[in-house]
Amino acid sequence: MKTRRELMLEEMGLTPTWRLRAPASAETGGGLQVGNERSDCENDMPGHIAPPVTLHASPLTAVDDRRSAIMRMDWPALKVSVASCTACPLHARRNKTVFGVGAENADWLFVGEGPGADEDAQGEPFVGQAGKLLDSMLAAIGAKRGDNVYIANIVKCRPPGNRNPAPGEALACEPYLHRQIELIKPRLIVALGKVAAVNLLAREASVASMRGKVHEYRGTPLIVTYHPAYLLRSLPDKAKAWVDLCFAVETMRGLQTRKSDANKETAT
Ligand code: URA
Ligand code: SF4
Repeated sequence: MKTRRELMLEEMGLTPTWRLRAPASAETGGGLQVGNERSDCENDMPGHIAPPVTLHASPLTAVDDRRSAIMRMDWPALKVSVASCTACPLHARRNKTVFGVGAENADWLFVGEGPGADEDAQGEPFVGQAGKLLDSMLAAIGAKRGDNVYIANIVKCRPPGNRNPAPGEALACEPYLHRQIELIKPRLIVALGKVAAVNLLAREASVASMRGKVHEYRGTPLIVTYHPAYLLRSLPDKAKAWVDLCFAVETMRGLQTRKSDANKETAT
């Protein structure tokens, strides 16, 4: 019988099990090629310059009004608002907005970059190849999509060609994620990749320098690990992601024992 650790390693793709699942033709140079997935290592499409963000009326007050309106929304209002949002240029080419998915009072919040092609078609985050790896990462920590876990992205509409969201686009979308986090009240946020980490922590740094520490997003503990799409191409960093997940589990345990559950209960 396999030990729990062996099962976890298998789930993380750190044993031959992963190789069996992967298409043989895609396995070259120690990594998997993933057509429409995104990662923190990818830059904008060559030659693509994101248009400047237009936030409707130019006065700052319009932006402030929008933010404070979003900050007062409950779940249904927030969902309606996102579904019809035109606050940044990403709305123009999206098929579906990708609001986020999971338990609305989850302890765990995983934040990615933005929808890829599969997510844009289905309206759900992390449903492509990277999503499969994310599900395996969740399984490795004994968690499951929708079960005490919420999954969201920095932007809710797909950046064309899977480029990184432009800073103005991330900024325009930020009140939605901010409000989601206020409503969920997760105990721990896991930022997946550089785009998520840099936007949530509002500072420029590499994933390598940010992992292994407990940061904070507006008072909520946050840890940083690699983006699953990047891990699909970088097998050596999968081992580091495994270390990060162990660190996340330990951090969560510490939070659960230190903080009384009353906090959480009064919130739900
Ligand atoms: N990559 C992301 O960052 N988010 C998704 O939802 C899918 C792929
Ligand atoms: Fe609105 Fe966010 Fe979509 Fe931009 S990415 S249109 S701010 S929902």
